[in-house]
Amino acid sequence: MSANQNPAGQPPTATYDSAFLKACRREPVPHTPVWFMRQAGRSLPEYRKVREGVPMLESCTRPELVTEITLQPVRRHGVDAAIYFSDIVVPLKAIGVDLDIKPGVGPVVERPIRTRADLARLRDLTPEDVSYVAEAIGLLTAELGETPLIGFAGAPFTLASYLVEGGPSRNHEHTKALMYGDPQLWADLLDRLAEITAAFLKVQIEAGASAVQLFDSWVGALAPADYRRSVMPASAKVFEAVAGYGVPRIHFGVGTGELLGLLGEAGADVVGVDWRVPLDEAARRVGPGKALQGNLDPAVLFSSREAVEAKTGEILAAAEGLEGHIFNLGHGVLPSTEPDALTRLVEDVHTRTAR
Ligand code: CP3
Repeated sequence: MSANQNPAGQPPTATYDSAFLKACRREPVPHTPVWFMRQAGRSLPEYRKVREGVPMLESCTRPELVTEITLQPVRRHGVDAAIYFSDIVVPLKAIGVDLDIKPGVGPVVERPIRTRADLARLRDLTPEDVSYVAEAIGLLTAELGETPLIGFAGAPFTLASYLVEGGPSRNHEHTKALMYGDPQLWADLLDRLAEITAAFLKVQIEAGASAVQLFDSWVGALAPADYRRSVMPASAKVFEAVAGYGVPRIHFGVGTGELLGLLGEAGADVVGVDWRVPLDEAARRVGPGKALQGNLDPAVLFSSREAVEAKTGEILAAAEGLEGHIFNLGHGVLPSTEPDALTRLVEDVHTRTAR
Protein backbone atom coordinates (compact mmCIF):
# COMPACT_ATOMS: atom_id res chain seq x y z
CA MET A 1 0.00 0.00 0.00
CA SER A 2 1.38 3.43 -0.82
CA ALA A 3 1.05 6.50 1.35
CA ASN A 4 -1.17 8.01 -1.29
CA GLN A 5 -4.26 5.97 -0.56
CA ASN A 6 -6.84 6.19 2.09
CA PRO A 7 -8.60 2.90 2.62
CA ALA A 8 -10.78 2.71 5.69
CA GLY A 9 -8.77 3.21 8.85
CA GLN A 10 -5.71 4.70 7.11
CA PRO A 11 -4.62 8.30 7.77
CA PRO A 12 -5.61 10.86 5.12
CA THR A 13 -3.18 11.33 2.25
CA ALA A 14 -1.91 14.49 0.52
CA THR A 15 -4.51 14.21 -2.23
CA TYR A 16 -7.41 12.97 -0.10
CA ASP A 17 -9.13 16.34 0.32
CA SER A 18 -8.72 17.42 -3.31
CA ALA A 19 -11.85 18.56 -5.15
CA PHE A 20 -11.34 15.76 -7.68
CA LEU A 21 -11.32 12.93 -5.13
CA LYS A 22 -14.18 14.51 -3.17
CA ALA A 23 -16.30 14.64 -6.33
CA CYS A 24 -15.45 11.00 -7.08
CA ARG A 25 -16.61 10.12 -3.56
CA ARG A 26 -19.79 12.23 -4.05
CA GLU A 27 -18.85 14.60 -1.22
CA PRO A 28 -19.37 18.40 -1.27
CA VAL A 29 -16.68 20.21 -3.29
CA PRO A 30 -15.24 23.77 -3.19
CA HIS A 31 -15.64 23.91 -6.99
CA THR A 32 -16.39 21.42 -9.76
CA PRO A 33 -13.07 19.70 -10.55
CA VAL A 34 -11.86 19.63 -14.15
CA TRP A 35 -9.39 17.50 -16.08
CA PHE A 36 -9.24 16.47 -19.73
CA MET A 37 -8.74 13.09 -21.32
CA ARG A 38 -5.62 13.39 -23.51
CA GLN A 39 -4.68 16.64 -21.74
CA ALA A 40 -1.02 15.63 -22.13
CA GLY A 41 -0.24 15.45 -25.81
CA ARG A 42 -0.06 17.06 -29.18
CA SER A 43 -2.21 20.11 -28.42
CA LEU A 44 0.70 21.46 -26.33
CA PRO A 45 3.80 22.97 -28.01
CA GLU A 46 5.88 22.04 -24.95
CA TYR A 47 4.81 18.39 -25.51
CA ARG A 48 5.77 18.42 -29.17
CA LYS A 49 9.14 19.87 -28.21
CA VAL A 50 10.10 17.23 -25.62
CA ARG A 51 8.76 14.40 -27.83
CA GLU A 52 10.84 15.45 -30.85
CA GLY A 53 12.66 12.39 -32.23
CA VAL A 54 11.37 10.05 -29.49
CA PRO A 55 8.92 7.36 -30.69
CA MET A 56 5.66 7.27 -28.70
CA LEU A 57 6.16 3.87 -27.05
CA GLU A 58 9.76 4.65 -26.17
CA SER A 59 8.68 7.91 -24.51
CA CYS A 60 6.41 5.87 -22.20
CA THR A 61 9.43 3.97 -20.83
CA ARG A 62 11.44 7.05 -19.79
CA PRO A 63 10.43 8.11 -16.25
CA GLU A 64 11.81 11.68 -16.44
CA LEU A 65 10.10 12.31 -19.77
CA VAL A 66 6.83 10.78 -18.55
CA THR A 67 6.99 12.99 -15.46
CA GLU A 68 7.59 16.15 -17.50
CA ILE A 69 4.79 15.39 -20.00
CA THR A 70 2.32 14.47 -17.25
CA LEU A 71 3.02 17.75 -15.42
CA GLN A 72 2.77 20.00 -18.49
CA PRO A 73 -1.05 20.35 -18.58
CA VAL A 74 -1.20 20.72 -14.78
CA ARG A 75 1.20 23.69 -14.96
CA ARG A 76 -0.40 25.26 -18.01
CA HIS A 77 -4.12 24.76 -17.43
CA GLY A 78 -4.41 24.40 -13.65
CA VAL A 79 -6.46 21.21 -14.01
CA ASP A 80 -7.57 19.42 -10.82
CA ALA A 81 -5.92 16.10 -11.67
CA ALA A 82 -2.99 14.77 -13.68
CA ILE A 83 -3.32 11.70 -15.87
CA TYR A 84 -0.32 9.44 -16.08
CA PHE A 85 1.31 9.75 -19.51
CA SER A 86 1.31 6.36 -21.18
CA ASP A 87 -0.89 4.47 -23.62
CA ILE A 88 -3.39 1.62 -23.36
CA VAL A 89 -1.10 -0.68 -25.36
CA VAL A 90 1.94 -0.22 -23.05
CA PRO A 91 1.23 -3.35 -20.93
CA LEU A 92 0.79 -5.42 -24.12
CA LYS A 93 4.10 -4.17 -25.49
CA ALA A 94 5.65 -4.95 -22.08
CA ILE A 95 4.66 -8.64 -22.32
CA GLY A 96 6.17 -8.91 -25.78
CA VAL A 97 3.28 -8.31 -28.20
CA ASP A 98 4.76 -7.15 -31.49
CA LEU A 99 2.99 -3.83 -31.74
CA ASP A 100 3.84 -0.21 -32.43
CA ILE A 101 2.00 3.12 -32.35
CA LYS A 102 2.06 4.62 -35.85
CA PRO A 103 1.78 8.43 -35.90
CA GLY A 104 -1.63 9.53 -37.19
CA VAL A 105 -2.87 5.91 -37.20
CA GLY A 106 -2.70 4.46 -33.69
CA PRO A 107 -1.69 1.05 -32.35
CA VAL A 108 -0.77 -1.52 -35.04
CA VAL A 109 -0.18 -5.21 -34.22
CA GLU A 110 2.17 -7.17 -36.50
CA ARG A 111 0.51 -10.58 -35.96
CA PRO A 112 -3.14 -10.25 -34.83
CA ILE A 113 -4.54 -12.55 -32.12
CA ARG A 114 -7.28 -14.72 -33.65
CA THR A 115 -6.65 -18.35 -32.63
CA ARG A 116 -6.02 -20.30 -29.46
CA ALA A 117 -2.35 -20.56 -30.41
CA ASP A 118 -2.24 -16.76 -30.72
CA LEU A 119 -3.81 -16.40 -27.27
CA ALA A 120 -1.00 -18.50 -25.78
CA ARG A 121 1.37 -15.65 -26.71
CA LEU A 122 -0.26 -13.35 -24.12
CA ARG A 123 1.60 -14.04 -20.90
CA ASP A 124 1.10 -12.57 -17.42
CA LEU A 125 2.32 -9.04 -16.68
CA THR A 126 4.68 -8.74 -13.72
CA PRO A 127 5.62 -5.47 -11.99
CA GLU A 128 9.18 -5.96 -13.29
CA ASP A 129 7.88 -5.77 -16.89
CA VAL A 130 6.84 -2.17 -16.24
CA SER A 131 9.34 -1.06 -13.60
CA TYR A 132 9.56 2.34 -15.33
CA VAL A 133 5.89 2.95 -14.47
CA ALA A 134 6.40 2.69 -10.70
CA GLU A 135 9.55 4.78 -11.03
CA ALA A 136 7.77 7.56 -12.96
CA ILE A 137 4.83 7.57 -10.54
CA GLY A 138 7.23 7.94 -7.61
CA LEU A 139 8.75 11.01 -9.27
CA LEU A 140 5.34 12.35 -10.19
CA THR A 141 3.60 12.10 -6.85
CA ALA A 142 6.53 13.92 -5.23
CA GLU A 143 6.09 16.80 -7.72
CA LEU A 144 2.28 16.83 -7.68
CA GLY A 145 1.80 17.28 -3.93
CA GLU A 146 -1.94 17.68 -3.35
CA THR A 147 -2.89 17.22 -7.01
CA PRO A 148 -4.15 13.66 -7.58
CA LEU A 149 -2.64 11.42 -10.24
CA ILE A 150 -5.03 9.29 -12.29
CA GLY A 151 -3.66 5.95 -13.43
CA PHE A 152 -5.32 4.18 -16.35
CA ALA A 153 -5.57 1.14 -18.55
CA GLY A 154 -7.45 0.00 -21.61
CA ALA A 155 -10.45 -2.23 -20.90
CA PRO A 156 -10.41 -5.83 -22.18
CA PHE A 157 -12.79 -5.17 -25.10
CA THR A 158 -10.89 -2.16 -26.46
CA LEU A 159 -7.53 -3.93 -26.07
CA ALA A 160 -8.98 -7.02 -27.77
CA SER A 161 -10.24 -4.88 -30.65
CA TYR A 162 -6.68 -3.73 -31.42
CA LEU A 163 -5.21 -7.21 -30.93
CA VAL A 164 -7.80 -9.02 -33.05
CA GLU A 165 -8.11 -6.42 -35.82
CA GLY A 166 -4.38 -5.76 -35.91
CA GLY A 167 -4.99 -2.02 -35.73
CA PRO A 168 -7.68 0.64 -35.50
CA SER A 169 -11.00 -0.41 -37.00
CA ARG A 170 -14.27 1.26 -37.90
CA ASN A 171 -16.53 -1.81 -37.83
CA HIS A 172 -14.63 -4.24 -35.58
CA GLU A 173 -15.54 -7.08 -37.94
CA HIS A 174 -12.78 -9.52 -36.92
CA THR A 175 -13.40 -8.76 -33.25
CA LYS A 176 -17.13 -9.45 -33.58
CA ALA A 177 -16.48 -12.54 -35.73
CA LEU A 178 -14.46 -13.98 -32.84
CA MET A 179 -16.93 -12.84 -30.18
CA TYR A 180 -19.95 -14.42 -31.92
CA GLY A 181 -18.15 -17.28 -33.69
CA ASP A 182 -16.00 -18.70 -30.89
CA PRO A 183 -17.47 -17.51 -27.58
CA GLN A 184 -15.15 -19.70 -25.51
CA LEU A 185 -11.96 -18.41 -27.12
CA TRP A 186 -13.34 -14.86 -26.85
CA ALA A 187 -14.12 -15.30 -23.15
CA ASP A 188 -10.64 -16.71 -22.54
CA LEU A 189 -9.03 -13.83 -24.43
CA LEU A 190 -10.96 -11.22 -22.46
CA ASP A 191 -10.20 -12.97 -19.19
CA ARG A 192 -6.48 -12.98 -20.06
CA LEU A 193 -6.65 -9.27 -20.86
CA ALA A 194 -8.53 -8.61 -17.60
CA GLU A 195 -5.67 -10.19 -15.67
CA ILE A 196 -3.04 -8.16 -17.53
CA THR A 197 -5.06 -4.97 -17.05
CA ALA A 198 -5.64 -5.59 -13.35
CA ALA A 199 -1.92 -6.23 -12.82
CA PHE A 200 -1.09 -3.00 -14.67
CA LEU A 201 -3.54 -0.94 -12.58
CA LYS A 202 -2.22 -2.47 -9.36
CA VAL A 203 1.31 -1.35 -10.25
CA GLN A 204 0.04 2.21 -10.72
CA ILE A 205 -2.04 2.27 -7.52
CA GLU A 206 0.70 0.73 -5.40
CA ALA A 207 3.15 3.31 -6.75
CA GLY A 208 0.81 6.14 -5.72
CA ALA A 209 -1.98 6.76 -8.25
CA SER A 210 -4.99 8.29 -6.43
CA ALA A 211 -7.67 7.09 -8.87
CA VAL A 212 -7.83 4.87 -11.96
CA GLN A 213 -9.73 5.11 -15.21
CA LEU A 214 -10.58 2.14 -17.39
CA PHE A 215 -10.85 3.27 -21.02
CA ASP A 216 -13.28 1.12 -23.01
CA SER A 217 -13.17 3.58 -25.87
CA TRP A 218 -14.71 1.40 -28.58
CA VAL A 219 -17.26 -0.61 -26.59
CA GLY A 220 -20.07 1.63 -27.86
CA ALA A 221 -19.97 -0.63 -30.94
CA LEU A 222 -21.91 -3.27 -28.95
CA ALA A 223 -25.58 -3.77 -28.09
CA PRO A 224 -26.34 -3.96 -24.35
CA ALA A 225 -27.16 -7.70 -24.33
CA ASP A 226 -23.84 -8.53 -26.03
CA TYR A 227 -21.97 -6.21 -23.67
CA ARG A 228 -23.53 -7.85 -20.64
CA ARG A 229 -22.85 -11.39 -21.88
CA SER A 230 -19.49 -11.10 -23.60
CA VAL A 231 -17.63 -8.11 -22.13
CA MET A 232 -18.95 -7.08 -18.73
CA PRO A 233 -17.56 -10.12 -16.85
CA ALA A 234 -14.01 -9.22 -17.88
CA SER A 235 -14.34 -5.50 -17.07
CA ALA A 236 -16.01 -6.37 -13.75
CA LYS A 237 -13.06 -8.63 -12.95
CA VAL A 238 -10.68 -5.69 -13.42
CA PHE A 239 -12.73 -3.40 -11.14
CA GLU A 240 -13.08 -6.13 -8.54
CA ALA A 241 -9.32 -6.76 -8.55
CA VAL A 242 -8.59 -3.16 -7.49
CA ALA A 243 -11.63 -2.59 -5.25
CA GLY A 244 -9.69 -3.24 -2.05
CA TYR A 245 -7.40 -0.24 -2.51
CA GLY A 246 -10.21 2.23 -1.91
CA VAL A 247 -9.20 4.47 -4.84
CA PRO A 248 -12.02 5.72 -7.10
CA ARG A 249 -12.53 3.72 -10.28
CA ILE A 250 -13.72 5.57 -13.40
CA HIS A 251 -15.23 3.76 -16.39
CA PHE A 252 -15.39 5.48 -19.78
CA GLY A 253 -16.38 4.65 -23.35
CA VAL A 254 -17.49 6.55 -26.45
CA GLY A 255 -21.00 6.22 -27.92
CA THR A 256 -22.13 4.34 -24.81
CA GLY A 257 -25.52 6.02 -24.26
CA GLU A 258 -27.26 2.64 -24.28
CA LEU A 259 -24.60 1.08 -22.04
CA LEU A 260 -24.30 3.70 -19.28
CA GLY A 261 -26.16 1.66 -16.68
CA LEU A 262 -24.04 -1.40 -17.43
CA LEU A 263 -20.78 0.58 -17.28
CA GLY A 264 -21.71 1.51 -13.72
CA GLU A 265 -22.86 -2.00 -12.90
CA ALA A 266 -19.48 -3.37 -13.97
CA GLY A 267 -18.08 -1.88 -10.77
CA ALA A 268 -17.22 1.76 -11.39
CA ASP A 269 -17.50 4.54 -8.81
CA VAL A 270 -17.58 7.17 -11.57
CA VAL A 271 -19.09 6.77 -15.05
CA GLY A 272 -17.65 8.82 -17.92
CA VAL A 273 -20.22 10.18 -20.38
CA ASP A 274 -19.57 11.33 -23.95
CA TRP A 275 -21.35 14.41 -25.37
CA ARG A 276 -24.30 12.53 -26.89
CA VAL A 277 -26.29 12.14 -23.65
CA PRO A 278 -26.94 15.12 -21.32
CA LEU A 279 -25.67 14.55 -17.79
CA ASP A 280 -29.10 14.67 -16.13
CA GLU A 281 -30.34 11.95 -18.49
CA ALA A 282 -27.07 10.03 -17.98
CA ALA A 283 -27.69 10.14 -14.21
CA ARG A 284 -31.11 8.55 -14.73
CA ARG A 285 -29.55 5.80 -16.84
CA VAL A 286 -26.68 5.15 -14.42
CA GLY A 287 -28.81 5.28 -11.28
CA PRO A 288 -27.89 6.39 -7.76
CA GLY A 289 -24.59 5.87 -6.00
CA LYS A 290 -22.23 6.91 -8.81
CA ALA A 291 -20.54 10.19 -9.77
CA LEU A 292 -20.49 11.24 -13.43
CA GLN A 293 -17.64 12.62 -15.51
CA GLY A 294 -18.03 14.71 -18.67
CA ASN A 295 -19.14 15.83 -21.14
CA LEU A 296 -18.21 18.74 -23.44
CA ASP A 297 -17.85 17.74 -27.10
CA PRO A 298 -14.09 18.24 -27.78
CA ALA A 299 -14.98 19.79 -31.16
CA VAL A 300 -16.86 22.63 -29.42
CA LEU A 301 -13.46 24.05 -28.44
CA PHE A 302 -12.96 25.03 -32.09
CA SER A 303 -15.87 27.48 -31.94
CA SER A 304 -16.08 31.02 -30.50
CA ARG A 305 -15.48 31.82 -26.83
CA GLU A 306 -19.15 32.66 -26.45
CA ALA A 307 -20.21 29.32 -27.92
CA VAL A 308 -17.84 27.41 -25.62
CA GLU A 309 -19.16 29.32 -22.61
CA ALA A 310 -22.75 28.66 -23.60
CA LYS A 311 -22.12 24.91 -23.98
CA THR A 312 -20.22 24.85 -20.68
CA GLY A 313 -23.20 26.53 -19.02
CA GLU A 314 -25.55 23.88 -20.44
CA ILE A 315 -23.39 21.08 -19.05
CA LEU A 316 -23.13 22.68 -15.61
CA ALA A 317 -26.90 23.19 -15.57
CA ALA A 318 -27.49 19.53 -16.46
CA ALA A 319 -25.03 18.58 -13.70
CA GLU A 320 -26.94 20.51 -11.00
CA GLY A 321 -28.16 18.01 -8.46
CA LEU A 322 -25.82 15.18 -9.49
CA GLU A 323 -24.35 13.31 -6.55
CA GLY A 324 -20.87 14.06 -7.88
CA HIS A 325 -19.61 15.71 -11.08
CA ILE A 326 -16.14 15.88 -12.59
CA PHE A 327 -16.03 18.18 -15.60
CA ASN A 328 -14.25 16.68 -18.62
CA LEU A 329 -14.59 16.47 -22.36
CA GLY A 330 -16.78 13.77 -23.88
CA HIS A 331 -13.62 12.23 -25.42
CA GLY A 332 -9.94 13.18 -25.68
CA VAL A 333 -8.52 16.62 -26.52
CA LEU A 334 -8.17 16.83 -30.31
CA PRO A 335 -4.54 17.42 -31.34
CA SER A 336 -5.20 20.77 -33.08
CA THR A 337 -7.09 22.28 -30.12
CA GLU A 338 -5.93 25.79 -29.15
CA PRO A 339 -4.33 25.29 -25.69
CA ASP A 340 -5.67 28.64 -24.44
CA ALA A 341 -9.22 27.43 -25.04
CA LEU A 342 -8.56 24.64 -22.52
CA THR A 343 -7.04 27.01 -19.96
CA ARG A 344 -10.06 29.33 -20.29
CA LEU A 345 -12.42 26.40 -19.88
CA VAL A 346 -10.79 25.34 -16.59
CA GLU A 347 -11.05 28.92 -15.28
CA ASP A 348 -14.64 29.25 -16.42
CA VAL A 349 -15.79 26.03 -14.71
CA HIS A 350 -13.92 26.93 -11.52
CA THR A 351 -15.37 30.46 -11.41
CA ARG A 352 -18.93 29.45 -12.16
CA THR A 353 -19.01 26.62 -9.64
CA ALA A 354 -17.06 28.25 -6.74
CA ARG A 355 -18.99 27.64 -3.52
O1 CP3 B 1 -3.25 12.89 -21.40
C1 CP3 B 1 -3.65 11.72 -21.39
O2 CP3 B 1 -4.86 11.43 -21.54
C2 CP3 B 1 -2.69 10.59 -21.12
C3 CP3 B 1 -2.17 9.97 -22.26
C4 CP3 B 1 -2.93 8.95 -23.09
C5 CP3 B 1 -2.43 8.56 -24.35
N1 CP3 B 1 -3.19 7.54 -24.82
C6 CP3 B 1 -1.25 9.14 -25.00
C7 CP3 B 1 -1.14 9.08 -26.47
C8 CP3 B 1 -4.06 8.18 -22.84
C9 CP3 B 1 -5.00 8.22 -21.66
C10 CP3 B 1 -4.21 7.29 -23.95
C11 CP3 B 1 -5.26 6.27 -24.01
C12 CP3 B 1 -5.58 5.67 -25.31
N2 CP3 B 1 -4.73 5.25 -26.31
C13 CP3 B 1 -6.90 5.32 -25.69
C14 CP3 B 1 -8.12 5.53 -24.84
C15 CP3 B 1 -8.54 6.96 -24.87
C16 CP3 B 1 -9.25 7.39 -26.11
O3 CP3 B 1 -8.80 8.35 -26.73
O4 CP3 B 1 -10.27 6.76 -26.44
C17 CP3 B 1 -6.83 4.74 -26.95
C18 CP3 B 1 -8.00 4.24 -27.77
C19 CP3 B 1 -5.46 4.69 -27.34
C20 CP3 B 1 -4.88 4.13 -28.59
C21 CP3 B 1 -4.14 5.20 -29.31
N3 CP3 B 1 -2.85 5.59 -29.00
C22 CP3 B 1 -4.62 6.06 -30.32
C23 CP3 B 1 -6.00 5.98 -30.95
C24 CP3 B 1 -3.59 6.98 -30.62
C25 CP3 B 1 -3.63 8.15 -31.58
C26 CP3 B 1 -2.98 7.87 -32.89
C27 CP3 B 1 -2.70 9.18 -33.60
O5 CP3 B 1 -1.54 9.46 -33.87
O6 CP3 B 1 -3.66 9.92 -33.89
C28 CP3 B 1 -2.51 6.65 -29.78
C29 CP3 B 1 -1.22 7.37 -29.71
C30 CP3 B 1 -1.12 8.31 -28.56
N4 CP3 B 1 -1.37 7.99 -27.26
C31 CP3 B 1 -0.69 9.66 -28.63
C32 CP3 B 1 -0.69 10.15 -27.32
C33 CP3 B 1 -0.30 11.51 -26.83
C34 CP3 B 1 -0.30 10.40 -29.89
C35 CP3 B 1 1.05 9.97 -30.32
C36 CP3 B 1 2.10 11.07 -30.30
O7 CP3 B 1 1.95 12.12 -29.63
O8 CP3 B 1 3.14 10.84 -30.93
